[in-house]
Amino acid sequence: MMRIILLGLPGAGKGTQAQFLMDRFKIPQISTGDMLRAEIKSGTALGIEAKKFMDAGNLVPDHLVTAMTKHRIIQRDCVNGFIIDGFPRTIAQAEALRIAAIDIDFVVEIEVADDEILRRMSGRRVHPGSGRSYHLQFNPPRVAGRDDLTGEPLIQRVDDNEETVKRRIDNYHSLTKPLVNYYLGWTASGDKHAPRYVNVYGRGTVEHIRDKIIAALVQRH
Ligand code: AP5
Repeated sequence: MMRIILLGLPGAGKGTQAQFLMDRFKIPQISTGDMLRAEIKSGTALGIEAKKFMDAGNLVPDHLVTAMTKHRIIQRDCVNGFIIDGFPRTIAQAEALRIAAIDIDFVVEIEVADDEILRRMSGRRVHPGSGRSYHLQFNPPRVAGRDDLTGEPLIQRVDDNEETVKRRIDNYHSLTKPLVNYYLGWTASGDKHAPRYVNVYGRGTVEHIRDKIIAALVQRH
């Protein structure tokens, strides 16, 4: 069983590293951002509501994201674990997992400075069908503008403009970063349900960061 939460600023590399962890541990990625974008594309009531918040770089209200994520975690493919990328993002969301008795084995924080994030986001390109992300300079696709696996075109996300990224960074510091102390405090309490906490410095090649995360998980599992 390997149940992982990835924490980190927008652009810290959560989605990039989730792809490696899926391969290594044979568990699915649950990206709340990708799920919300799929709802928007399908024109559901949730998607219409979420779009207003996402386009502005703000968090979608807790009750909407929590219900969606809890429903996803109980699907059959999560029976051996999962990687949640983008949830929880507030103390209330973390508490909802705890109240629902959804245990987590590891919280992995990928730590990157704000100025590095701004550099990364301008060059990010994504494959909308899968959520796979690339960077024009740091992690380029094999063929320019095309997804490595499907060959389909890559796009730039609407919320990857500088103003919206700055808002997302501010929201991370005020609403999501407090989760670090929340999980550290829980772990220190000795509660057998508390996850183990892993902090990884997120600058360097994507492969180097992958190796550091996997080594920490394997060593402490
Ligand atoms: P979401 O889609 O989750 O966006 P995010 O957290 O802002 O994360 P990103 O996908 O932008 O970044 P990432 O860390 O996955 O980085 P990536 O690997 O792509 O959420 C979008 C929106 O949905 C939110 O703003 C919110 O409105 C809503 N939402 C989602 N979940 C929610 C929740 N729980 N509650 C409320 N609202 C919610 O990497 C970024 C770039 O850097 C790429 O180009 C990549 O190639 C490159 N890169 C990666 N690693 C490296 C490296 N080591 N060196 C250089 N470049 C690198």
